[in-house]
Amino acid sequence: MEIRAVRGMNDLYGKEMQEWHYVEEKLRKIFRTFGYEEIRTPVLEKIEVFKGAVGDDTDIVEKQMYAIEKENETLVLRPEGTASFIRAVLEHQLHRTGGAQRFYYYLPMFRHERPQKGRLRQFHQFGAEIINDPTPEADSEIIALLNEVYRTFGISEYTVRINSVGCQDCRPVYKEKLKEYFRPHLATLCEQCQKRFERAPMRILDCKKEGCKKLAAGAPVITDSLCVVCKTHHDQLKVRLKQAEIPFQDDPTIVRGLDYYSRTAFEFTSPLLGAQDALGGGGRYDGISARFGEPPFPAVGFGLGMERLMLALQEKKLLAEIKSSTQVYLAPIGEAAFDYLFAFGMKLRKLGIAVETSYDKDKGLKWHMKQANRVNAQYTLILGEEELKGSFALLKDMATGNQEQISLSELQKTIERKMLP
Ligand code: HAM
Repeated sequence: MEIRAVRGMNDLYGKEMQEWHYVEEKLRKIFRTFGYEEIRTPVLEKIEVFKGAVGDDTDIVEKQMYAIEKENETLVLRPEGTASFIRAVLEHQLHRTGGAQRFYYYLPMFRHERPQKGRLRQFHQFGAEIINDPTPEADSEIIALLNEVYRTFGISEYTVRINSVGCQDCRPVYKEKLKEYFRPHLATLCEQCQKRFERAPMRILDCKKEGCKKLAAGAPVITDSLCVVCKTHHDQLKVRLKQAEIPFQDDPTIVRGLDYYSRTAFEFTSPLLGAQDALGGGGRYDGISARFGEPPFPAVGFGLGMERLMLALQEKKLLAEIKSSTQVYLAPIGEAAFDYLFAFGMKLRKLGIAVETSYDKDKGLKWHMKQANRVNAQYTLILGEEELKGSFALLKDMATGNQEQISLSELQKTIERKMLP
């Protein structure tokens, strides 16, 4: 077929879809346990939401947004969740309702990047954001929450890297120091870094080009330029992470690919992923509302890539044990059995038991067993003419292969006992 899905945008179905459901449900439970409420924002936003907030000199804004022109407006497919979240907070005045508030989202994001393993053009993020809490304890909670996600799934192969990117008082001083350092080497920087040198010299630290990376390795680190308030905040975050028993590395090279951060910035990286090794990342972004022309309020959060979490789980073979959502596959052989199981299946569904079957009346046992395997059923209920005559059915446990003969009068009760919690 000529027409295919857009490169870097995937279809999800079958076993993989079941695995996603399993992981999604677990994640939602973790977020609820930590007291986070779901928020959903539209997939399209006005371009201004991201331009100002994410930063004009970032890869996302410079080259990765999918834009749609309509009625003299430019709308973009959401490339990340935080700017849309803050747009919604400001629009509904959620920051005016008092103390700290916790939100989470689970949404598709769109970035026009070069697709490769773990890097897609449509990907999915679970994100968490706390507003109205300026404390390092809130930062540590956000990091603890992300840590809990991987711990819950049994993934331990990752490093938590934290940094402080300073604030509007101390960052300009650091930027000047960086410029002084890079200025004599300007000609050896890549074209994009040369362009970014004046306005966004910290972006050079994030460049993936070999030449820039080599130079950046010797650049002054922000840790030496932090003001007292930022340094105290960072030190207190480290105390809290130790109390929460979360191992971390203080890494001054973490600058993140988005401009809105102040003070804490962090990344979880894992060797399970390959080249695109960021499982998730985030930080504090107290000044973001000023980018919308509004007074500032504190905010901190993270985004985690679902596809990357799934890759890590596959790599560690942690998805093998997932129970199928189909509890029982009905295999009627012959017209009379079909009639019986059609009505019986409807009854089971009303009871909340997940049923699959096929409405093809002419198929034999072998064909039905193939279907039962395809849908990964936990049990198969077999009913043929002979069984009907004897008033019993066969219930096959698909994991063990054991087959029980159950009288039709006991069938519903037996299935309920096995399949309802
Ligand atoms: P980000 O680092 O751009 O941060 O993305 C967060 C995570 O999304 C990454 O660590 C990675 O797991 C996943 N990700 C990013 N790009 C791709 C891609 N092209 N394909 C697959 N997965 C990807 C943010 O987006 C911030 N909004 C996070 C945040 C929330 N900061 C504060 N609050």
